[in-house]
Amino acid sequence: MNGSFLPAQQAQVSVFDRGFLLGDGVYEVIPVYKGKCFQLTGHLARLQASLDGVRMKNPHTESEWENLIAKLVELNGDGDQSLYLQVTRGVAPRDHVFPEEVSPTSFAMSSPLQVVPEKYKTEGAAAITLPDIRWQNCNIKAITLLPNSLLKQQALEAGALEALLIRDGYLTEGAASNAYAVIDGIIYTAPKDEKVLPGITRDVVIEIAKANDMPLREQAVTLSQLKQADEIWVSSSTKEVVPITVLDGEPVGDGIPGSMWQKMNALYQKYKTKGGV
Ligand code: PDD
Repeated sequence: MNGSFLPAQQAQVSVFDRGFLLGDGVYEVIPVYKGKCFQLTGHLARLQASLDGVRMKNPHTESEWENLIAKLVELNGDGDQSLYLQVTRGVAPRDHVFPEEVSPTSFAMSSPLQVVPEKYKTEGAAAITLPDIRWQNCNIKAITLLPNSLLKQQALEAGALEALLIRDGYLTEGAASNAYAVIDGIIYTAPKDEKVLPGITRDVVIEIAKANDMPLREQAVTLSQLKQADEIWVSSSTKEVVPITVLDGEPVGDGIPGSMWQKMNALYQKYKTKGGV
């Protein structure tokens, strides 16, 4: 908390923190494999972009973050972990407008890395489509996750892993993941704009696709294209790349994880181990 280390149960914030009162904050989730952060530079760059997006000061320089994170990982026994970083605008009397004098609250914690159940990789997972009820700045990784939480809960109650979100007739992304549709051998994913989070895992997927002659277009697909896709995938730092084999109760393609996903997943695992393509 704010640069010092303590047991999570002892970490406290004021009820006047704008993160608590207004959801005025941004965050990151970073996977750690064998004590090494995966794509740390990308995550720290996106944190800066989110902070810039909400006009908030970064409480630490990049090298300060790197040192704090290295110590956090070490204190938690190296190994596999999931890091959560959060910065809020800080403590001030409640007011919609920004306080003039305020210093940001920074917080980071380590949790055990929850790997996706093996059956999602052997059988695939289910998803449902839902209207994208989120705001107009989904490129900012804001802590205000109530819409995402409602969507994800609706998916869970429908027996699905993820909600795939539709805005103006087009697939944007998942409630907590980026989304891909494979159509006639081409991988489609929505372009980076204010409608999607620029996923770090998505960047890796694109890098892998480019390096391995897997055709990929950063172009959004319509709901009807999605319904007829040969394969659907979702990706995130915690889930990696997961095949969706049932959409709205109907099988996707052959209803099993597809050959393009098999190839991408194998290359992704290799990338993780090597730290590059
Ligand atoms: N969420 N889109 C949304 C809306 C997300 O919440 C996430 C990740 C992603 C994937 O981004 P990345 O590949 O950088 O993890 C896309 C994290 C894991 C979370 O909120 O816990």
